[in-house]
Amino acid sequence: MIDRTLLSEQAISDRLDGLAREIDLAYAGREILAIGVLKGSVFFMTDLLKRVTNPVVVDFLQVRSYAGTQSSGNIQLVHDLSMDVENKDVLLFEDVVDTGLTLRKMLELLSSRKPRSLRVASLLKKDLHENADITVDFLGFTIGKEFVVGYGLDLDERFRNLPYIAIWDPTR
Ligand code: IMP
Ligand code: MG
Repeated sequence: MIDRTLLSEQAISDRLDGLAREIDLAYAGREILAIGVLKGSVFFMTDLLKRVTNPVVVDFLQVRSYAGTQSSGNIQLVHDLSMDVENKDVLLFEDVVDTGLTLRKMLELLSSRKPRSLRVASLLKKDLHENADITVDFLGFTIGKEFVVGYGLDLDERFRNLPYIAIWDPTR
């Protein structure tokens, strides 16, 4: 069951204000091709992009890696982009970097399509040695190893619409 709130709606909102300013500065008026990884990043991406003043175009891709609370270690491209990323300033949106496996695969795929630049925004990154080498250019929060739900993050498709992030305790 849901154990306790880790990040409140207000804490998330305040952090998004800061991230939007960082993004505006980093792209200095250039158009951003924002790519959301379905479905988890959608809540984060839309709330953040509403605060960005740079010109933005939006696209999505979908991969599958998880069953329950465990990474299957096997990433499948379920839905590809509708746009060409060649020569574009691509900003990839993730909900959480856990083992980093999913992000590594997506970065490999996207960089093979020759974007002008490729950066990553993630709401959460778990503090794990497996993902220590992965750079998230625009990071919301670093969290512990716990499994979390809400604000886009699911447990078997549930809880995505919670406006805050909560820790899931499988033993309760
Ligand atoms: P990774 O490949 O291990 O980095 O896992 C990344 C994906 O697993 C994320 O995009 C999420 O969809 C899912 N995931 C990882 N940790 C959590 C969590 O704590 N709650 C919900 N989904 C998670
Ligand atoms: Mg999931």
